[in-house]
This record gives sequence, C-alpha cells and structure tokens, in this order.
Amino acid sequence: MPALSPRALAIPPSPTLDLDTQAKALKAQGLDVVNLSIGEPDYPTPANVCQAAIEAIKEGFTRYTPTAGIGPLREAISQKLKKDNNLDYAPESVVVAAGGKHALYNAFMCLCQPGDEVIIPSPHWVTYPAQSTMVGAIPVLAPTDPETLLLTPEGLKKALSPRSRVLVLNSPSNPSGRAYGANDLEKLAPLIKAKDLWVISDDIYENLIYDGLTFVNLPMVCPELKDQTVICHGVSKTYSMTGWRIGWLAGPKIVAQAAANLQGHMTSNASSVAQRAALAALTGPSDEALRFRAGFNQRRLRILELLAKIPGFQTPTPNGAFYVFPKVSQLLGRELGGAMIHSADDLARVILEKTLVATTPGTGFGAPDRLRLSYAVDLSNLEKALNRIASLVAGRPVVL
Ligand SMILES: Cc1ncc(COP(=O)(O)O)c(C=O)c1O
Repeated sequence: MPALSPRALAIPPSPTLDLDTQAKALKAQGLDVVNLSIGEPDYPTPANVCQAAIEAIKEGFTRYTPTAGIGPLREAISQKLKKDNNLDYAPESVVVAAGGKHALYNAFMCLCQPGDEVIIPSPHWVTYPAQSTMVGAIPVLAPTDPETLLLTPEGLKKALSPRSRVLVLNSPSNPSGRAYGANDLEKLAPLIKAKDLWVISDDIYENLIYDGLTFVNLPMVCPELKDQTVICHGVSKTYSMTGWRIGWLAGPKIVAQAAANLQGHMTSNASSVAQRAALAALTGPSDEALRFRAGFNQRRLRILELLAKIPGFQTPTPNGAFYVFPKVSQLLGRELGGAMIHSADDLARVILEKTLVATTPGTGFGAPDRLRLSYAVDLSNLEKALNRIASLVAGRPVVL
C-alpha cells in the first residue's frame, strides 16, 4: 500500500474523544459509567430551536444555501456581536461554518502560511496544535501564569519569534475554565500590536461565565486590535446544540471573503436546516440558555465542594465553561486501587477501571499534573462520580 501523506500522519487522534470512546464501550457492556470526560452540555436543545428545524424541513428548505450562510443568520450573528459585545461586524464579515471547530480551521487556513508559528497559551485545548499542524504551521506553546493559567506578557514574550504569526486566545478556557478580564487582555495588547500578530479569539464559552463576571474579548477591550482579530464562535455550548454543527467566524472582510472561498471548495454551506435552527436560537427567547448556565453554575459549586474533600486534588476555582482542572501531583508516585500511579494518564485509567468514572488526563492539554473533569452531567451523577473517586482515594470499597 502506498504511504499516507506526512500531513495526515502528523494529526494525532483527539485524546478527549479517546477517553469518551473507552467510556462508551464500558457503558455498552451495561456498566454504570459516569462520563466526566466530554465537553458536551447534557441539556436538550431548546424546543423552539428544534421546531424551527422541523418547519425548515417541512418547507423544503433542504437545498444548498449561500456558502457563507443564509442572510438572516449572518445578520443575526452581526446583531449578536453588536448587542452582546458592542462590536460592529457587517454580515459580510461573518461566515457560517459547520461548527466552531470548522470556523477555527477556516481561520487557521486563511491566516497561516506554511512555517508560520502559532502561539498557543498552555494549558490549551487539544485541537489548536492539531489544526495549526494541519495547515502547515508550527504550534508554539506559551507558558501561562501558574496560578491563573492565563497568558501574561512575560509568557507571550517567551513564545515570540520572528516567525510568530497567530496568537490563539480562548476565554473562558477549555480546559482550565478560567476567563480573561479586561485587565489581562489590555496587558497583552501592546505586544500583539508591536509584533503585528493575528489573534484568533475562540469565544465558544462566552455565555458560560459565572461569579458575576462579564465576558470580554480582545476587540472589546482594545478596539484598535479589531482589524487583526478573528472571532470564532458557535451555538454548540450556549444552546446545547453540539450535534447541529453550526459555528461562525467574524473578522475583517478580507478574512471572511477568503474563508468563504475556502469553504466554497471544501464543504460549501453548513446544513441548511441547522442554520434555520441556529437562527431561532440567536433570535428567540434566551431563557433556556440562561437556565443552562444556572444549572452549570450549580454543578460547578457542587463539584468544587466535593473535590475539596478529596485529598490530593487541588482545584482552582474556574469562572467559566464547564470544566474543573485540579492539580493531582500529590497522588503521583502513590499506589491507588492496587496500581502505582506515575502520571495523570495512569490516574485517569485507574479511576475509570476502579470507579467507572471517565475523566481526562491533563497530558493532552499540556498539563501532565492535572485532570480535567467536565461537570456537564446532572447533579446526582456528579455526586455519584465524586463519591466513587473519594472512596478510591481513601482506600474504601467503591460502591458501583
Ligand atoms: C475551546 C473550544 N473551542 C471550540 C470548540 C468547538 O465546538 P463545536 O465545533 O462543537 O462548535 C470546542 C468544543 O469542544 C472547544 O472546547
């Protein structure tokens, strides 16, 4: 058989999906698995959104749409950017894609030349280095503040080189759940400006923010950087619409045009029916989305409370998304459930084997001394999972 392309071979499987697959396989055997490894809201998509899709199908709205998305949806995204972020993006500056991931890929394709460096504050979401590599660029991990896990000017300076081209900012962050404040972004702005970097602002968790914090992104705080920023976003997390696959990018018109051209030869439009659903999500009542956020917040507080009682888990309080990201270094080098734990990978494996709780080791996120636990599960499952982990760590029998 002829060889595959080096480009294809350089793409690692997603470690988060790996764990999810293992958990699903155990579940398929009839075991009572609690899956805290996946980044997917468990709430159903709001009824008005589903209804809009049903109506679209009944109307026969099942054909190609304009590549960059239907006019009303691009308009609705433009209005959302004005209303929520006070940012002016004309509909022509918005391109609707098949999910936030697709929008990010379009952005990387449009902004990077082969050999360019993409600066990724780490801990980081696994897809940023993979997508950078996919477009021929070189991912460069930038160290973050050890306490806040946010990028500082010092961390950015360490990652900069003459080949730096793009900086990725993700707030609230997957995996840390930490959100940038205006102050944090203001401090980064002079370097971004001086080095003439593109910024990809991944705002997918914008609406999942707690503790009375207000979401901010770079162009909101530093309008002079709007022309070098591309916002990537979508409906997946806010409206519990992961399967519908609608995301978008918003940026300078020249970027939007390039992304639309690219999409025109790659995927064409995102699903026509899902676009109508996303339109209903963005223009309809927001009470469901608010209810989801309140639910996540309640779970966040509960998981923090339960983790605080488990020795060896040092958990900073996240203020966004739906992940906690405890340090587990105190458990490394110890025996747990009859096995030696040398790494977060060992820990996640033993937790899954002995307690049937799936978590994600921090290794793939650039934090080998941490575990990521998603709290996108209902309270009773969350409590069950944490009680099982507490028993394992305490050396008590685990009740399954
Ligand atoms: C940080 C981050 N960005 C973007 C996405 C993409 O979301 P989707 O492609 O489902 O819209 C995800 C999904 O897990 C994410 O965690």
